[in-house]
Amino acid sequence: MRVLDRIDAVRKELDTARSRGQTVGLVPTMGALHAGHRSLIERSAAECDVTVVTVFVNPLQFGPSEDLASYPRDLAEDVALAAEAGADLVFAPPADEMFPAGPPPTTVTVAGLTEGLEGATRPGHFAGVATVVAKLFAIAGPCRAYFGEKDYQQLLVVRRLAADLSFPVDVVGCPTVREPDGLALSSRNAYLSADERRAATVLYRALQAGAEGGSMAEVVAAEPLARLDYAAVCDPETLAPLDGVLAHPARLLIAAWIGRTRLIDNLGVEPA
Ligand code: PAF
Repeated sequence: MRVLDRIDAVRKELDTARSRGQTVGLVPTMGALHAGHRSLIERSAAECDVTVVTVFVNPLQFGPSEDLASYPRDLAEDVALAAEAGADLVFAPPADEMFPAGPPPTTVTVAGLTEGLEGATRPGHFAGVATVVAKLFAIAGPCRAYFGEKDYQQLLVVRRLAADLSFPVDVVGCPTVREPDGLALSSRNAYLSADERRAATVLYRALQAGAEGGSMAEVVAAEPLARLDYAAVCDPETLAPLDGVLAHPARLLIAAWIGRTRLIDNLGVEPA
């Protein structure tokens, strides 16, 4: 498996692969890879001839008071996991390779879908995500790109931008990978103390209660280490709020602070 940090070198490598008729699968990540990322890489490796994993902690998608500086970084471990999972290439550019003059004047915004939920709490976050993902699509030219359903709103935003900007890529959503007690895998779980780790199962417990028609907010309120940001019942395609869960297919989405760590999760619900 090759590890490259320059855009030109990645382009050259993938142009050669495409000229041989090989298909390219892209797995964009910010590193700190875990079993959730592994499932995306394995799926790409099973479906595409060449799998590229990008490892880039994208400064554009962090707000000024967020954890850009402390975000976990360990390229050697990421490279080992990517190789084991079947990747052919890791692209790990420094920030000045991606954005040589700092934040670029050209950005991608996806209106509508990005205004509520994560977009309400993290202004500018999805413009940062959409801009870097569009750039990664332009660099790698994948025919498929793999994203976790754990970041459900992000998945819809990326699908929308690929369709609207006519990127010839199939955006593949992959199921959330969970710990045995239900906690969704996330690079930010590494921030949790032992007590917070136990409390963090409240997100999944709340989603399960919501799927049964119960109150997600009440479940979170009963957990002393947790503070709810939002708990919403939404249309699974548009994310428009829905009144009741059980009459329509719905997506339940939740965000909560566990101590100083903000976690998100979601669950699809079909009418009984
Ligand atoms: O989900 C992530 O890790 C990031 O938001 C992504 C898609 C790699 C863009 O930086």
